[in-house]
Amino acid sequence: MTTQPHLSLNAGIDIPQLGLGVWQTPADQTADIVRHAVGAGYQHVDTAMIYRNETGVGEALADHPEIFLTTKLWNEDQGFDSTLRAFDESARKLGRERIDLYLIHWPAPAKNLYLDSWRAMVRLHGEGRIRAIGVSNFAENHIERLIAETGVTPAVNQIELHPDFQQRALRKFHEEHGIRTESWSPLGQGHVLKSPVIGKIAEKHGKTAAQVVIRWHLQSGLIVIPKSATPSRLDENIAVFDFTLDDTDMASIADMDTTTGRIGPDPATANF
Ligand SMILES: NC(=O)c1ccc[n+]([C@@H]2O[C@H](COP(=O)([O-])OP(=O)(O)OC[C@H]3O[C@@H](n4cnc5c(N)ncnc54)[C@H](OP(=O)(O)O)[C@@H]3O)[C@@H](O)[C@H]2O)c1
Repeated sequence: MTTQPHLSLNAGIDIPQLGLGVWQTPADQTADIVRHAVGAGYQHVDTAMIYRNETGVGEALADHPEIFLTTKLWNEDQGFDSTLRAFDESARKLGRERIDLYLIHWPAPAKNLYLDSWRAMVRLHGEGRIRAIGVSNFAENHIERLIAETGVTPAVNQIELHPDFQQRALRKFHEEHGIRTESWSPLGQGHVLKSPVIGKIAEKHGKTAAQVVIRWHLQSGLIVIPKSATPSRLDENIAVFDFTLDDTDMASIADMDTTTGRIGPDPATANF
């Protein structure tokens, strides 16, 4: 099997750069899908309390402690004590004493509780229950506040990122602070795959549109977690280590960036 790329995190551990996302993977199919993915060579799974499929992920990974596992704190559980409780509950469902990466799912700024949650996560990290702590959907000002108040910089910020929404300013901020950028909805939930620009590059390499987009994330230094609940697509999405996009391909995809490509909620105003 091809050796897969890993990226170092500021917490002193490495993360496999390609993982499987399981948002919207039905709970009753999750164990089978994750088992298939592990058989296909995936080394990293991204779930969340709110996906309601942590039990299925845990079942599939029971004999695979080597698989890098991420889960996330849901907004309703923000706060110091409630974060400690929510973490215990996620770890129980996942069947692990220790989670590799735990993220605050959204800042939900109107609650003004993400700093309390972060303090709880710093404690859990110190106790060895979490190997690396990070955030998701955080803007520069939210991250700056965490660092100023606790001195602890998130290892990762998981944000919406795909070829027509490339988030260059936030990525630059991450680089300046040693934070890894992780792309959610990396395939634009499928719509990016219809792009003629991507189609042309795929044809040139004899690869699929999804493989080209995943390759673009990898070569851009991003952590990438495409979701599929289709076994053949799980296989397809990991067959990306036998080709390389050239400078022309990368420049063509860079030109696809827009400021209007956001699919999901705007984190600055999302307070669900
Ligand atoms: N932190 C956050 O707030 C946040 C938000 C959203 C997502 N995420 C994470 O990011 C992961 C990925 O994002 P996402 O699920 O929104 O979208 P995505 O990975 O960009 O796209 C998934 C969609 O693309 C389809 N697909 C996958 N591989 C394909 C292929 N090779 N050919 C054609 N279609 C393909 C899937 O269909 P099938 O499943 O039917 O095959 C599904 O409809 C999530 O699962 C989750 O772990 C995090």
